[in-house]
Amino acid sequence: MSGPESYGAGGTSASEIPPLLVNPAGTLAGDAMVIPHPASRNSSAPEVTLGETELQPEEDVIVSIAEEAEVALGPTGRPMPDLPEPTPLTTHGHARVISMCNQKGGVGKTTTTINLGASLAEYGRKVLLVDFDPQGSLSVGLGLNPHQMDLSIYNLLMQRDVSLDDVVVPTGVAGMDLLPSNIDLSAAEVQLVHEVAREQTLARILAPAIEKYDVILIDCQPSLGLLTVNALTASDSVIVPLECEYFALRGVALLKITIDKVRERLNPKLTIDGVLGTMYDGRTLHGREVMERLVEAWGDTVFHTVIRRTVKFSDSTVAGEPITSYASASAGAESYRQLAKEVLARWRDE
Ligand SMILES: Nc1ncnc2c1ncn2[C@@H]1O[C@H](COP(=O)(O)OP(=O)(O)OP(=O)(O)O)[C@@H](O)[C@H]1O
Ligand SMILES: [Mg+2]
Repeated sequence: MSGPESYGAGGTSASEIPPLLVNPAGTLAGDAMVIPHPASRNSSAPEVTLGETELQPEEDVIVSIAEEAEVALGPTGRPMPDLPEPTPLTTHGHARVISMCNQKGGVGKTTTTINLGASLAEYGRKVLLVDFDPQGSLSVGLGLNPHQMDLSIYNLLMQRDVSLDDVVVPTGVAGMDLLPSNIDLSAAEVQLVHEVAREQTLARILAPAIEKYDVILIDCQPSLGLLTVNALTASDSVIVPLECEYFALRGVALLKITIDKVRERLNPKLTIDGVLGTMYDGRTLHGREVMERLVEAWGDTVFHTVIRRTVKFSDSTVAGEPITSYASASAGAESYRQLAKEVLARWRDE
């Protein structure tokens, strides 16, 4: 199937993505480069030579615009909004279901599921995490041994006598539970093909959880197969984690087509909450250019919150806990708390 133009899981053509913006100076500006604010970008400094007394005030104005722009701009190059503190809940239920979805592997789906879930739980939300990937990374990342699971989501999908309460386990985070998974789930994908309403199977088994939780986060596998279609069919919305690296932009068009098809044929309420830039390194020109490109393509769908690259995430996975408890004061933990505030604000404003 691979032609010279196809690449990776997405298989989309390079022509879908305009080339990265070229630094106007035509050089690698390195750490010192600051992407200019759109307002300051349009302002053209006078090129004529003026007398010193005339030039001085003009320069002052340009410098103060640039300073103001740098203070106000977030990492996505847009002004950072004030994110309100989440309001405490007095009752629970009517959960919103969100799929963490991108068919490209290793972009931060599982890391985002664990840490957004833990941050929402810190803000008093009752959270259920659903491991819907046969790799079981979410379960392992929360300290479970995949070989010592009595029951997993596979049993819930395939056996009518198993109930949600039989399979759900608590996590080390207060207010956050987990529906665990392991390699058994890969068999479900094959067996589900023969089921009646095969795309609705996950929605059916999650129905009893809707009244118990405030948020249900589904960690999808890196594919657009039947399991992912089940996750999208069961969801109110999708969060798309996207590594801030050029090749990561490819394939997102295919994901968008899949989401549109599920909305048209199976789940009319499905929306995209946002695209989340992960593993961002603002010190590199490449990182900043990819971010700029992402905002050009997706506009305000891109979350203002960006997750920077740090080894603390791998360390916390080894420790089997979210970064919000493993390194509670770290920048990574703070970013996911900020993401929690941003998603809660988006849901409130819908
Ligand atoms: N912001 C980050 N900085 C550095 N490392 C990160 C960051 N986010 C995730 N990682 C690491 O990158 C790897 C892949 O992340 P993760 O497992 O969350 O991706 P995924 O999209 O769920 O992958 P898969 O498609 O295989 O399920 C992990 O080792 C994780 O610890
Ligand atoms: Mg994963």
